[in-house]
Amino acid sequence: MYRFRRLRRDERIRSMMRETRLYARDFIYPVFVMEGEQVKNPVESMPGVFQYSVDCLDEILEQVKTAGIGGIMLFGIPSRKDPWGSQAYARDGVTQRAVRYIREKYPEIYIVADVCLCEYTSHGHCGMVHGEEILNDETLPYLVKMAVSLVEAGADMVAPSDMMDGRVAALREGLDQAGFAQTPIMAYSAKFASAYYGPFRDAAHSAPGFGDRKSYQMDFANGQEAIREIRADIEEGADIVMVKPALAYLDVLKEVALSFDMPLAVYNVSGEYAMVKAAAANGWVDERRIVTENLTAMKRAGAKIIITYHALDAANWLA
Ligand code: PBG
Ligand code: ZN
Repeated sequence: MYRFRRLRRDERIRSMMRETRLYARDFIYPVFVMEGEQVKNPVESMPGVFQYSVDCLDEILEQVKTAGIGGIMLFGIPSRKDPWGSQAYARDGVTQRAVRYIREKYPEIYIVADVCLCEYTSHGHCGMVHGEEILNDETLPYLVKMAVSLVEAGADMVAPSDMMDGRVAALREGLDQAGFAQTPIMAYSAKFASAYYGPFRDAAHSAPGFGDRKSYQMDFANGQEAIREIRADIEEGADIVMVKPALAYLDVLKEVALSFDMPLAVYNVSGEYAMVKAAAANGWVDERRIVTENLTAMKRAGAKIIITYHALDAANWLA
């Protein structure tokens, strides 16, 4: 009989045998920036997460800096919305101002700018709308304008989350033409139409005003299609590809990791965070243990980068 338990006898040998380790550098922390001054609004469905106005960002940025995490993912919440999402690519838009502020004051923080129109459009969809239809090709130039303006403001990386076809190629070409050939693209490649985004839409004020996102985000029943989405984004020039959400999609993540030799990111989304926080608040699970287990599982399945609202807590536990 082979005795597996020999290498499990105590923590000294277990820790030598451990195949997967988490580091603070693995994590990207999402940050919500709001218009206005002196704003620090708690997001009710996401305990511990706040919307900040630019003048209040220091509190969270200092924590990010001390925790030594990989970077932040920035989401802007404008006060004015219109059908074209003008504030998404306005020079003085709230997100551009936030990026400029962070770039200036925190040069050590790596800034990933989410690129999508849904926080900025009055209809709440991720692209241009005609009647009930979400337009694809007409949306691409707006995404390019948004990405270029955020990189001009100082963003280190762009992350398109809109799920329009062809957007990675459009972004790559637009960035190159604007002189940003060195700016990487992290594509939300296999992004599923998911009920797990519920709390985020409260946090980012980005719920669609009509219909849903199923005509552009993926059907959660589809694994093969995820592989095709990933392949397409790699061919279009993505530097990092992403699977989102995380926990219910670890099979997809693992398959992508085995199929492509590309850096992989996973997004541990708002609903996943909310469920853990709710259960922990009730004393039904041990937050630290369950979060460590979840994040380790994401890395074991193949993620190099984990975008997570637990980033600061997890980094502090690891320190
Ligand atoms: C916007 C966007 C969403 C998320 C990231 N970017 C929501 C959506 O597609 O409706 C979800 C993040 C989360 O739930 O934490 N395109
Ligand atoms: Zn969107």
